[in-house]
Amino acid sequence: MDYKQALEKLTAAGQEHAMQYYEELTKEQQELLLAQIDATDFSVISSLKDRKEENVRGMITPLAAMQRAQICEREEEFHAIGLDAVKKGKVGAVLLAGGMGTRLGSDNPKGMYNIGLTKEVYIFQRLIENLMDVVKEADAWVPLYVMTSDKNHEATVGFLREHDFFGYREEYVTFFMQEMAPACDYQGKVYLEEKWKISTSPNGNGGWYSSMYKWGVAKKAMEDGVEWLNVFAVDNVLQRIADPCFVGAVISNQCAAGAKVVRKCAPDEKIGVMCLEDGRPSIVEYYELTEELMNAKDENGDPAYYFGVILNYLFRVADLEKIREKNLPLHIVEKKIPYLDAEGRKVKPEAPNGYKFEQLVLDMIYELDSCLPFEVVRNKEFAPIKNATGIDSVESARELCKENGIEL
Ligand code: UTP
Repeated sequence: MDYKQALEKLTAAGQEHAMQYYEELTKEQQELLLAQIDATDFSVISSLKDRKEENVRGMITPLAAMQRAQICEREEEFHAIGLDAVKKGKVGAVLLAGGMGTRLGSDNPKGMYNIGLTKEVYIFQRLIENLMDVVKEADAWVPLYVMTSDKNHEATVGFLREHDFFGYREEYVTFFMQEMAPACDYQGKVYLEEKWKISTSPNGNGGWYSSMYKWGVAKKAMEDGVEWLNVFAVDNVLQRIADPCFVGAVISNQCAAGAKVVRKCAPDEKIGVMCLEDGRPSIVEYYELTEELMNAKDENGDPAYYFGVILNYLFRVADLEKIREKNLPLHIVEKKIPYLDAEGRKVKPEAPNGYKFEQLVLDMIYELDSCLPFEVVRNKEFAPIKNATGIDSVESARELCKENGIEL
């Protein structure tokens, strides 16, 4: 893309200020800026205008979860089915590690955070140790796909290499990068983070499969015989990955997907709950849960919307392929965006100063015909690290690790 084309693209999007420093840039910087303008999709910003429609939801009704008692009754059967799929190389694991982890406040990728007390125990290490349990039991490696972003790719790859992948076989680890989206001020004007660089943010975890596809990683996985992908967040240090019982239950129920869920600890807990939306599997975010839904009861008199998702989903690859081209809803998130002020000086804001745009993995569920909510024991499988202290923090995760006999 040359200067004229770039200016045309920016003008059409109302963003021509992004080239205001062009004349004072070096040749190399000019090229970087032109390449970025070429690659950037500015149309996400126009979603600001349609904001009001963002949260219009269909008719919400309950979707029964497979609860612990039912799972325990058929545990052996599910486990055998799942383990067989793992042994045959049909199950891959996708680590979503492209987020910025801003709430935790570390400059490094979240997985590099050391939660150890008497020794080093990194978040990545905990996840790999959990996955190794299944690898050992199945006597088969589970292909591990790691999604990073422009902001943390090098650090993530470097760290895992430096630590020898914490015992995982390198040939079974594949990295791919997610896309970035421009970040803008409250008027919808993109910020610049350098005179030659538009501010961008990872575009949310919802684009994981299309990024995996664009990188050729999904095709390779299919060629290798992977039929199921277990997608999981970087921050839950207790989660079971490629868990045979979960995999077996989803296969046995012939579902397109499965979602690990936990019983909420309070009706207003900040966790998205599984439901049906216009008859399709879906997730209502906690801030969308009305008083009426919060208090609704199912036919047994139990709370109807009480199973929260923990960002651990199993997807059938054939069904992912069907929805690959679908546009997921865009979520507009207020954020602190570093920027250049009118004098061209770098500013790191203390409070949110604009928007970033994200697609979310939970919106993929609605696109599928079926999804099995699968209950897991909360204190055994859910120790998310979002914050440094308080709720869902390093402190709370350490407590839960201790409770589960994990030495830190
Ligand atoms: P979170 O919603 O907790 O976001 O991500 P975050 O960016 O990690 O943290 P905050 O909100 O800035 O504090 C849930 C999971 O989705 C991944 C994260 O890495 C985490 O595993 N994620 C999030 C991505 O892979 N890409 C994204 O663009 C956003």
